[in-house]
Amino acid sequence: MTSFKSQEKALVSSFMHELKTPLAIVRSHLESEISDASLDTRLRRKLVLDVEALARLNNLINEMNLLLNCEAQCDVKNFQDYSLLEILVDIVELLEPLAESKQQKLSLVADENIIIKMHPEKFQQLLLNLVSNALKYTPEHGKIHLSLRQEKKTIIVEVRDTGIGIELLMQERIFDPFFRLHTKETQGAGLGLAIAQAIAKQHFGEISVQSTLGEGSCFYLRLPKEKVCK
Ligand SMILES: Nc1ncnc2c1ncn2[C@@H]1O[C@H](COP(=O)(O)OP(=O)(O)OP(=O)(O)O)[C@@H](O)[C@H]1O
Ligand SMILES: [Mg+2]
Repeated sequence: MTSFKSQEKALVSSFMHELKTPLAIVRSHLESEISDASLDTRLRRKLVLDVEALARLNNLINEMNLLLNCEAQCDVKNFQDYSLLEILVDIVELLEPLAESKQQKLSLVADENIIIKMHPEKFQQLLLNLVSNALKYTPEHGKIHLSLRQEKKTIIVEVRDTGIGIELLMQERIFDPFFRLHTKETQGAGLGLAIAQAIAKQHFGEISVQSTLGEGSCFYLRLPKEKVCK
């Protein structure tokens, strides 16, 4: 993943902060125009699209901030013992309605509960990004399967889907910020995996992928036990 030097980070951070205020002002003006009952229907539709575009830009700024601030927020000093299984169960509960709306089967298997040292909110974000991708890039009636297991030295979380897959040449690049495939069919900033990988690294781990185009993908999160377990 491309990493930012601290000077670049500060510059981009303040630039984005400055962008947020005028964005919010324009958005509130547009929203008050839209609420005017005498407004022409065509104009209202156009203004609604403008508001949606501004909302996407705002999301992009928020995601960019998440990526930039990952290091600072993910300080090991703030880590606590937390159940990995609990995080996974919460994610299934959170995303179940989305899976149901696409008639997808979302399942979870864990050999046992595993407690690790983590930043729970960040860790949830990491897995949320992986699992929401699995749902997003898997067509209706597909399957998404999560699993938690451990080997001698490593804890492994797998997020497996029967989705559209990623061609071999692109499998490394999808972790780069702003890199996206399938741009015609889906929307996004291209930051979800970059953020997930940054959080994994803060937990001494790494995310990798195995995928076959047209068949599906499996994302692996590997965490070294000697670092994350007691
Ligand atoms: N499970 C998956 N199956 C197929 N392709 C995937 C999968 N996960 C990610 N990708 C590909 O990797 C690209 C990068 O993913 P990433 O999550 O970083 O961005 P995104 O989903 O496009 O946008 P967002 O910032 O909203 O997450 C995606 O555009 C998609 O093409
Ligand atoms: Mg994504």
